[in-house]
Amino acid sequence: MRNKIKISASILAANPMRFEEEIKRIEAAGIDLIHIDVMDGHFVPNITMGPFIVKGIKSITKVPLDIHLMIEHPGRYVEAFAEAAESNGIITFHIETVQNPKEIITQIKNTGMKVGVSLNPDTPTEMVENFLDQVDMVLVMSVNPGFAGQKFIPKALPKIARLRNIAPDKMDIQVDGGVIPENISQVVKQGANVIVAASAIFKTNDPGNAIKSLKQIAEQTIEKGADNLVNI
Ligand code: DX5
Ligand code: ZN
Repeated sequence: MRNKIKISASILAANPMRFEEEIKRIEAAGIDLIHIDVMDGHFVPNITMGPFIVKGIKSITKVPLDIHLMIEHPGRYVEAFAEAAESNGIITFHIETVQNPKEIITQIKNTGMKVGVSLNPDTPTEMVENFLDQVDMVLVMSVNPGFAGQKFIPKALPKIARLRNIAPDKMDIQVDGGVIPENISQVVKQGANVIVAASAIFKTNDPGNAIKSLKQIAEQTIEKGADNLVNI
């Protein structure tokens, strides 16, 4: 039994002057998660949103927040983000930013948020393989983090497949970066089930429709996969 497909809309490509309107629109379209890209100008070459913005977003939506921390010293900010998110959602830290992963995993769990761990394109899966049973999700980056609108890096695909093979069934696998209708089937086939998209949602004329069609393609990929198995 495969984990449910979830689409996580990254507001990094939304119009920041219209967050309320954009968020209401994707909520009405049935978005599963709102992905918030937190960047510090150190771990990545860009600066974005902090707990202040997360709190504002949470005040206008019931959709769980998917907080992607691309920051050094993530442990310093976990409680502030969890409080801003009203403990509804998941906090993902980058494995490259911590010395003691188990410590921050416990810290995040203690806030009531779910916990995710992320890997940059050049970081091998071995870095997280020892504690897959302790996290709710692994995020496999398919671009170098920092900006929306970059091109998908295919070397993410075997990493997704490897993790799906060895992880507990209940663990989600998220993919983030350059996912578009043309390649979403590939990532789902390898075993990803939580799909982040920024440009493929917000840089279209109809974000609601974009969400529905990404989800439809992903779900059909799984159905076809099941058919194939039956036919073998
Ligand atoms: C990149 C961010 C992504 C980004 C995805 O550093 O972590 O979440 O917003 O943007 P697209 O879907 O446009 O590649
Ligand atoms: Zn992200």
